[in-house]
Amino acid sequence: AMITLRQLLDHAAEHGYAVPAFNINNMEQGLAVMNAAAATDSPVILQASRGARAYANDLVLAGLIRGLARAFPDIPLCMHLDHGNGLATCATAIQNGFTSVMMDGSLKADGKTPADYAYNAGITRRVTEMAHACGVSVEGELGVLGSLETGMGDQEDGHGATEKLSEDQLLTDPAEAEQFVKDTGVDALAVAMGTSHGAYKFTRKPDGAILAMHVIEDIHRRLPDTHLVMHGSSSVPEDLQAVINSYGGDIRPTWGVPVEEIQRGIRSGVRKVNIDTDNRLAMTAAIRRTLTEDPSEFDPRKYLKPAMEMMAEICKARFEAFGTAGNA
Ligand code: G3H
Ligand code: 13P
Ligand code: NA
Ligand code: ZN
Repeated sequence: AMITLRQLLDHAAEHGYAVPAFNINNMEQGLAVMNAAAATDSPVILQASRGARAYANDLVLAGLIRGLARAFPDIPLCMHLDHGNGLATCATAIQNGFTSVMMDGSLKADGKTPADYAYNAGITRRVTEMAHACGVSVEGELGVLGSLETGMGDQEDGHGATEKLSEDQLLTDPAEAEQFVKDTGVDALAVAMGTSHGAYKFTRKPDGAILAMHVIEDIHRRLPDTHLVMHGSSSVPEDLQAVINSYGGDIRPTWGVPVEEIQRGIRSGVRKVNIDTDNRLAMTAAIRRTLTEDPSEFDPRKYLKPAMEMMAEICKARFEAFGTAGNA
């Protein structure tokens, strides 16, 4: 059944677990998540970016998610807009049946320019008023995602801040977070502490200097009842990098967010953990392997099925590691 983010995360908080939010763009990714959820008895957040809505066709994507909810009636399913950039994007998502929207006002509507507090709080407040009137939840974001190693935003996959950021911008200020939740009424708050989107987050296994989990602990101390969200939380598994590279791919050496750091966050109020890159890597690894091992193959189902299965393995592992399993 479809439920809101608020309902899902309230349950997670009560029971001390987090829910991974997986990005989907197509049927295979949707089925992979739902199959993994059914296998582990987990509630689900399926999230679609503006890019996903454009790629799959807004109505087709909305129909797909509704179909998944009907095909898996026993699994609580939240349909979430990832990184909405304004009132209209959030409103059309709600019209299409989304039960939750993210208003990312940490950047201006261009998705590249860091915004000031007044802009962010103002636009997020307006979205919250509209969404709550429709019975829909809202995630806001305070602080700009980017690397503490380089000061750069997520340029790798074409979105995120494009100017060099200060440590002030890259780390959410706990006092400001408290004010932001009061000013906006958001149901969940995404915070910045050194993660970034995509495969190239860290040039080494991260320590506290480049992955500032203590910021989450500070925020949780001030806002014990606020559901916190970690973006850019793929772990970028070394074994997937190796499979891709051994079948003709070219992933440069890189590190993601270790699962044990996410588990540390879950002990401090993190209830939603955004993951896209790990699933992209899993599907690509399976497709490269399948097509390399049998170059005569040309039926898409022959490589998309293993891709779906490899993605489902990642999803299952995250459901287990975050304590989501058994809570559907
Ligand atoms: O925000 C980042 C997610 O990985 C979605 O990426 O905008 O390329 O669909 P996307
Ligand atoms: P990754 O790129 O680390 O998977 O992060 C995804 C994300 O934050 C989507 O909003
Ligand atoms: Na989101
Ligand atoms: Zn994100």
